[in-house]
Amino acid sequence: MTTERLDALAAPDGQAVLAELAALDAAELTGPAGLRLGAQLRARYPTELVVDAFGQAELRAAARAKFARADAMWFTRAGLEQASTEVVAQHRRTRFAGAGAVADLCCGIGGDLLALAADHDVRAVDRDPVHLWMAARNAAAHGLGHRVTTVEADVREVDLTGVDAVFVDPARRAGGRRHRVGESEPPLAWCAALVERVGAVGVKAAPGIDHDLAPPGWEIEFVSVGRELKEAALWSPALAGSRTRATVLPSGAVLQPAPGDAVPVRAPGGYLLDPDPAVTRAGLVAELARATGTWQLDGQIAFLSGDEPVQTPFARTLRVLDSAPWHQKRLPQRLRDLDVGAVDIRRRGLAGDVDALHRTLQRSLTGTRRVTLVMTRLDDRPWALVCSDL
Ligand SMILES: C[S@@+](CC[C@H](N)C(=O)[O-])C[C@H]1O[C@@H](n2cnc3c(N)ncnc32)[C@H](O)[C@@H]1O
Repeated sequence: MTTERLDALAAPDGQAVLAELAALDAAELTGPAGLRLGAQLRARYPTELVVDAFGQAELRAAARAKFARADAMWFTRAGLEQASTEVVAQHRRTRFAGAGAVADLCCGIGGDLLALAADHDVRAVDRDPVHLWMAARNAAAHGLGHRVTTVEADVREVDLTGVDAVFVDPARRAGGRRHRVGESEPPLAWCAALVERVGAVGVKAAPGIDHDLAPPGWEIEFVSVGRELKEAALWSPALAGSRTRATVLPSGAVLQPAPGDAVPVRAPGGYLLDPDPAVTRAGLVAELARATGTWQLDGQIAFLSGDEPVQTPFARTLRVLDSAPWHQKRLPQRLRDLDVGAVDIRRRGLAGDVDALHRTLQRSLTGTRRVTLVMTRLDDRPWALVCSDL
């Protein structure tokens, strides 16, 4: 895709084709209805315009999961995949409250830009002219065009004079989830060194980032949405609150380090807490245990337990129906005795092929109850807990 072809799509003929395609959902676009409409459109418009419009329409349909106004926005496949989800970008924007102008370095198609420009004048920088074209139009589609100045440049060369705060979301390299120095473009070390030029810096990072990659005095925040770990962010001392933080969206609940007594390790009580992945990645399981009056089943494993049902945004609480040493051969009978018909498996600290076990168990179950089978260790012994939702 080039900006010339995008200009053609943004012109009246391109808009007319896109408007006709907007009536189809993702499956229809690639199915017989799409084929029929494509043939009709090619009779009236240049083939290249129709092909480009189909590509854009498919991306818009996919983007509806990330953006409320996806149908008015512009995407590349990579730009959409790497764009911050709206709920995360909106949360992150609050960290910049009080700053004047902000630079959004590596702005991509503008996922973060849209949130930042709601509060700030933003200098949006990307070296990819297609992404920059899209970022500008996506801001305009949200009525924020007047807040955004786009700069096509390598971020290493950009002038940051007059900017109060910087957000940088470097491109992830393809491959493993773990994020070490040099695995992003520009590398994390370069992003962190921005603090020497502008004090307030936020850097988006992959959720698998090692804690020790956060420079001294910086905060590392782990963010989950609906119990799915989405991303990490590094915050320079001017924006940092504590060394680590777990943020759970959409509630916005925040857990931070709070030193205290060691968490007791005991046998399971009547309830099990399965901490949110943002809490475990932030290393804040002990804080959650102290805040909820619960204990660990094993010093190395993140499951917590208590005698009372706990309502907390930082964990899923389950009722323990049965607790016994792990004995795979006896499991089907145990589950049948509990009238189980469907089982979800949750595993921490125990090896095993969960899919194969799930298939085997599911074949032998005929009861009416849905349970969670928790495979774990208790005082270093393999253990099985059968749990139900509260
Ligand atoms: C992860 S995406 C940004 C996503 C964006 N925050 C969003 O929410 O839509 C990374 C972007 O960095 C740009 N990029 C990578 N290295 C760059 C560099 N050295 N200078 C400028 N842009 C760069 C890529 O072109 C890409 O658009």
